[in-house]
Amino acid sequence: MKTSSYSGFFKLSTEDRMKEVAEFCGLSEAEQAILQSADSLDMDKADHMIENVIGRFTLPMGVGINFVINGKDYVIPMVTEEPSVVAACSNAAKMARPGGGFTTDYTGSVMISQIQLLEVPAPFYAKGKILEHKDKIAEICNAKDPMLVKLGGGVKDVEVRVLDSIVGPMVIVHLLVDTGDAMGANAVNTMAEAVAPYLEELTGGRAELRILSNLADRRIARARAVFKKEAIGGEEVVDKMIAAYAFAAADPYRAATNNKGIMNGVIPVVIATGNDTRAIESGAHAYAARSGKYAPFATWEKNADGDLVGSIELPMAVGLVGGATKIHPAAQVAVKMLGVKTAGELAQIIAAVGLAQNMAAMRALATEGIQRGHMSLHARNLATVAGAKGEVLEKIVQQMVAEKNVRLEYAQELMKQYS
Ligand code: MEV
Repeated sequence: MKTSSYSGFFKLSTEDRMKEVAEFCGLSEAEQAILQSADSLDMDKADHMIENVIGRFTLPMGVGINFVINGKDYVIPMVTEEPSVVAACSNAAKMARPGGGFTTDYTGSVMISQIQLLEVPAPFYAKGKILEHKDKIAEICNAKDPMLVKLGGGVKDVEVRVLDSIVGPMVIVHLLVDTGDAMGANAVNTMAEAVAPYLEELTGGRAELRILSNLADRRIARARAVFKKEAIGGEEVVDKMIAAYAFAAADPYRAATNNKGIMNGVIPVVIATGNDTRAIESGAHAYAARSGKYAPFATWEKNADGDLVGSIELPMAVGLVGGATKIHPAAQVAVKMLGVKTAGELAQIIAAVGLAQNMAAMRALATEGIQRGHMSLHARNLATVAGAKGEVLEKIVQQMVAEKNVRLEYAQELMKQYS
């Protein structure tokens, strides 16, 4: 059985780490080269991704290790600029192993596309009429994407809401579209635009906005894990962590930071796989505020054995087909590393990483505080900026941390002394 549980992984050289990962994930020499080259995305491809391209921008890719999800080991590609994120979630994943790792599930890839109808003469009467014509609506929409329909996707249902607003009542039609392994923005926007004239005809109203909703609450990924009390420092730590969670549950100021910590894990995998980070952020925060009070994405409790148990649920509109995932060579390698064949599998892995990241942050905050771990990584960044490498870098980092003097000027001063 392949294991993603390594010890001393961080001590290896970047080449040796790559060797381990390549073996675990079955990466070819060419795929390894794609990840290691700063310009795996050539200018021509970059120029096709966005407008007014003048260059490219590189970030480090690390790997989240030690993850067991639904009984299977994973090495998880993570692209981020923030030190300590990858180490923290790998550590949490290690602490989850004695409890069996992470268990996940997914509701399916149903996206909502909204059509706004204004000046509808009798909004509630129109609602009934729209619902009566669901089949025709689905037919018009599905005709726009026969391939999706062939793969089992397409419009699955239609819902109608009558909203009061400052410009008067409006009728909002929701197309519930199964987008399969695509994130689906293009598919559902096209459907909304295609069906709008028919909805105008049905209702006598005027169609205005025709666009997906990023509150993807029909596309939820869930993850849960049991952290055995012995694996995380005992029952006292469990209690402190639950008190930390209680703070976030009671206070939106804390919930925002707590959830930022979860996004520290989620977004790096979203970026690595070429997915839309803003869609995930907006969906997650809107979902967290659905009760009217902004809440933490994850819930933490103590089970009958005194262990810490965590559960998370997040809207997770990520895809494997189309968009940057298909264009960016490194994103394709990242998908291969995860071995995922469906958008749902990817969504569930991301939820597990988010839960791990939350666990790690809460544990650090509830025990030694976040700064100790952060400081040595910050010192490493500063020493690198000051031009230090190899042994000199290690010495400078140690000295700055020991003296609790972690500033760029000091790193530069030490650099002069040592070189
Ligand atoms: C820092 O990037 C993330 C944390 O602030 C998250 C949290 O407070 O839970 C440590």
